[in-house]
Amino acid sequence: MSQHNNSQKRLLSGMRPTGKLHLGHLVGALQNWKSLQDEFRCFFMVADWHALMSEYEDTAALTDTIVDNAADWIACGISPEKATLFVQSDVPEHLELYMIFSVMTPLGLLERCPTYKEQLREIKHRDLHTYGFLGSPVLQAADIMLYKAEAVPVGDDQLPHIELTRQIVRKFNKICRSDFFPEPRALLTKDKRFPGLDGRKMSKSYDNCIALSEEPDAVRKKIMNMFSDPKRIRLTDPGHPDDCNVHAYYSVIAPERKPEIDRLCAQAQIGCKDAKTELADRVIAFLEPIQRKRNELLKDKTVILDILKQGSLKARAEAERTMRGVKEALHLVRP
Ligand code: TRP
Repeated sequence: MSQHNNSQKRLLSGMRPTGKLHLGHLVGALQNWKSLQDEFRCFFMVADWHALMSEYEDTAALTDTIVDNAADWIACGISPEKATLFVQSDVPEHLELYMIFSVMTPLGLLERCPTYKEQLREIKHRDLHTYGFLGSPVLQAADIMLYKAEAVPVGDDQLPHIELTRQIVRKFNKICRSDFFPEPRALLTKDKRFPGLDGRKMSKSYDNCIALSEEPDAVRKKIMNMFSDPKRIRLTDPGHPDDCNVHAYYSVIAPERKPEIDRLCAQAQIGCKDAKTELADRVIAFLEPIQRKRNELLKDKTVILDILKQGSLKARAEAERTMRGVKEALHLVRP
């Protein structure tokens, strides 16, 4: 029933190509995207202009990262037949709509945006006091509305950006006395925050990731060194599975095995090392089919580049149509 209802509804999400994708991306986004592609008309975007806004000094690897990330998407089950996979910078209309939205966006809303304030505070090794970085949520609004997407799957950190998009849409529609753009809503990924090796959120900037492309030996080494139950000192101490990072991994990687491992740990019948050794085997086995597909795809890079090119053509046709409407609504079309 719901499949039928949403099948014509549009959905857009994006990821910034700033490095290798990791288990956090898979659990927090890609698994969700995969199930949504059967239900909505999906646009999945490599947000390279967003990467540029923060990493403009560091662009040498950008094309490689775009191809690498797209290979991971497909290896994880995102299908170019079901969804439109494209690269933002192949569709220049993103910048056109971004400019039009920017003239309507109050500066205060951007300056007060929590993600903006947090990143200025946290990211010290880059100068983000730029006009472009302040405006990046406006580009995100344009990304979404260029495809008139009503659904936007994101993590909760992105909620302020969806709210900003809604405010821009209301203002645009009011100025044009129309309901040209629908108000999008966030589709929150339910409770899917995957912990990093140190228990904080898995993130490249914390250096606590297992990449989807991580070699088996490296996976094993990382897991054997990961944080576990801080209250379990000796092997004979009973463990606290609910407060332990290793057990959190089991719930994602091997949920069917978790109750038994939890029990053995809580009764001090196995040690953290045993739980980790088995987990390492399971993570390696979990990644194996993804890596096989990924390596297959990356044998000939033109395959991925072609998929993205085809996707960008489809995206662009939609984008052009929206921009014609925007310009008509704002009386920017000359006879
Ligand atoms: N800003 C998002 C992030 O940092 C990425 C992104 C760019 C995005 N454009 C988007 C997400 C549009 C959803 C919709 O994760």
